[in-house]
Amino acid sequence: MDAAFIERVKANVDYQRERKAPPDGFPSFPPIPGGRYIDPGFLALEDAALWKRAWLYACHIDELPEQGSYILFKKTGSPVLIVRGKDDRVRAFYNTCRHRGGPLVKEAAGKSRGGFVCGYHGWTYDLEGKLVNLRDRRDFVDLDFDCHGLVGVRCERLGNWVFINEDPDAEALLEHLGPIPAHWQQFDLETIRHVDSRSYDVACNVKVLLDAFLEVYHLKSIHKDTVDRFLDHRGTDIVLWPNGHSLMITPNRRDGWVDPGTIGMAEFPSVTELPQRFNLSYNLYPNLVTPVAPTGLPFLVFWPVSANSMRIECHWFAPDWGDGERDPLWETRIDNFERILYEDTQFAPQIQESVESPGFKGISLNYQERRIYHWHEELDRRIGEDAIDPAYRVTPRLDGFVESA
Ligand code: FES
Ligand SMILES: [Fe+2]
Repeated sequence: MDAAFIERVKANVDYQRERKAPPDGFPSFPPIPGGRYIDPGFLALEDAALWKRAWLYACHIDELPEQGSYILFKKTGSPVLIVRGKDDRVRAFYNTCRHRGGPLVKEAAGKSRGGFVCGYHGWTYDLEGKLVNLRDRRDFVDLDFDCHGLVGVRCERLGNWVFINEDPDAEALLEHLGPIPAHWQQFDLETIRHVDSRSYDVACNVKVLLDAFLEVYHLKSIHKDTVDRFLDHRGTDIVLWPNGHSLMITPNRRDGWVDPGTIGMAEFPSVTELPQRFNLSYNLYPNLVTPVAPTGLPFLVFWPVSANSMRIECHWFAPDWGDGERDPLWETRIDNFERILYEDTQFAPQIQESVESPGFKGISLNYQERRIYHWHEELDRRIGEDAIDPAYRVTPRLDGFVESA
């Protein structure tokens, strides 16, 4: 994040506070069709485009602490085995034996001594996914070991974070994320540590809750006694990037305000002034939202469970604290955050009831909710407009408002 960007944000926030209307030339949004939240045909297209062909956050390297450590990751709907190899590289494969599809591992996480033995007939693979042994070799005619390694899944790192993508032809993660990796150098990504992970089930379509984390228009209503006391939503600035990513910058009401729950916690040594003075919340398309702070950050990851239920995961990360236990202040900080999360989720089941009723005609968005429109435009681009029933399409409106860096 360079100085010019920081200065630009400060000027934009002043402008946003004072403006009397959206900027000249900003379009009105047609309603987002309500069917996008319930129609089985549309949801099937969304499933294929988002969860099978997107870069998705999988884990932090601290969850793969040793060579041979693995995680079985099933959130895309496929069983994916993520392994730390003998060279410390993290790789991903389908947990699918090349003989007849038996599982290599069954536990959600564990450590392999040096490879994986299929539970069905004993074919054996090394940590790099190569087939190295099998029972009764004499009974296979011309079996080529080299062609029977585990099928790989794209797996790339942003610092200590591991992302996977089931699309073998996907653009490289760091290119796909555009300016975000450079913005995040200030969080010391090579040494950032994992603090805690927990998850919460919510009875709504995944997009109902995700939408809520892309705007701050709701602060005065559902966070009246919490976030609204220290954030000024009317000064919010937004940056839209290609591939659906975006950033929302909301100023503190008072300059110099510091979250009381973080006082005394260690900060990232190279953090810039921006996360000190503003609340910065990134959306890494499609399902990762992170409000970053000088003392650490949560990855809020949104996963569909069914058409009308979802799970939100909160993974917390902090500056490297060296040896010993993490700062005990993290307990309170995470508890405080849970209270705010409860405020955000409180209406979700009722909104889902509405979404499923004839009363729900669509979503009418305003200028400060434009990240939601940007998100939906990107979904249509990924699905391919022609594949979508015209009744459920979103008309592109934000072309001239997306920047490349
Ligand atoms: S399915 Fe794996 S050894 Fe047969
Ligand atoms: Fe909120």
